[in-house]
Amino acid sequence: MEENRIEIDRDLCTGCGLCETVCPTGTISIVEGKATVSAGGSILCGHCEAVCPQEAIRVTAIDEKMSRYETFAAEKQWLPPGNYNTSLLVQLMASCRSCRHFTDRAVERAVLEDLVKIGITAPSGTSCQFWTFTILPTRKAVTAFAGHVANFYSRLNATAEKTLLRSFLKLIGKGELDAYYRGYYRKVKEGLDEWHGSGKDRLFHGSTAAIVVGSKPGASCPAEDALLATQNILLAAYSMGLGSCLIGFAVVAMKRDPPVRRAIGIPAEEEVHAVIALGYPDEVYQRVSGRKRVTPRYFEG
Ligand SMILES: Cc1cc2nc3c(=O)[nH]c(=O)nc-3n(C[C@H](O)[C@H](O)[C@H](O)COP(=O)(O)O)c2cc1C
Repeated sequence: MEENRIEIDRDLCTGCGLCETVCPTGTISIVEGKATVSAGGSILCGHCEAVCPQEAIRVTAIDEKMSRYETFAAEKQWLPPGNYNTSLLVQLMASCRSCRHFTDRAVERAVLEDLVKIGITAPSGTSCQFWTFTILPTRKAVTAFAGHVANFYSRLNATAEKTLLRSFLKLIGKGELDAYYRGYYRKVKEGLDEWHGSGKDRLFHGSTAAIVVGSKPGASCPAEDALLATQNILLAAYSMGLGSCLIGFAVVAMKRDPPVRRAIGIPAEEEVHAVIALGYPDEVYQRVSGRKRVTPRYFEG
């Protein structure tokens, strides 16, 4: 029941109604001059708690500890729109490129845990927050995981080498294996040969940590939620001096081969949406580069 999860201190409440105004589900209303949980369906988003000038409302599902960071001080003060340096923000976003060269320096566990907490400041569909995070905190863990992913691609490449099978599957409308063969097979083979030969890690680029972002069943928008959290992590990591790279190859391996997920302790019912390689960067750029042209279209009504 929402009553148990939204606590209202009736002595502190002045009945100003701000909570009623911002509540997206119409759960709170002013009854006899006081904020009251008058309807069900709260998504426990915490807008009421954040807007109350009297600090009279508490959403008990919100864990204070998730907003306390170990490696930096975070202001609790809300920053109004416009009160920020856009130029610096855009410079950060454009400078945060995929990093494919890392030093051997380990990423502190406290930093990785803070990154997860920063990730979950992202929005989520109906505020369900059904995201999951699996931290690979060391180079050893990343290498072990890379081995499982490499095994998946070894098997996939062995299947893709079968010309007759590819042609048959294409003939019956299943052209994925053929498309993989033409698009990725050769590069993947090169990477696997290097991995098994010199131990060079083309998959994780030698990163010393990784975070796998997934979702629990039941989320309304699992992929969107996870990817929004992921982008937060990428930007925050950069601001902390880390480099990052999304590893789509590892996501595909985990989606297609449950044992690869299981190998790093992800339960069968969870989905995986992003794998973020992390580490201290060993590359320096001179300037930010741009993007291909995009032309927004307008709909004027
Ligand atoms: C969903 C996704 C999957 C990606 N997978 C890989 C990958 O497996 N390996 C890799 O080196 N880069 C990967 N990247 C990084 C892209 O190649 C990179 O974002 C793109 O080239 C643009 O460069 P930038 O990130 O430096 O701006 C991936 C990016 C995205 C968004």
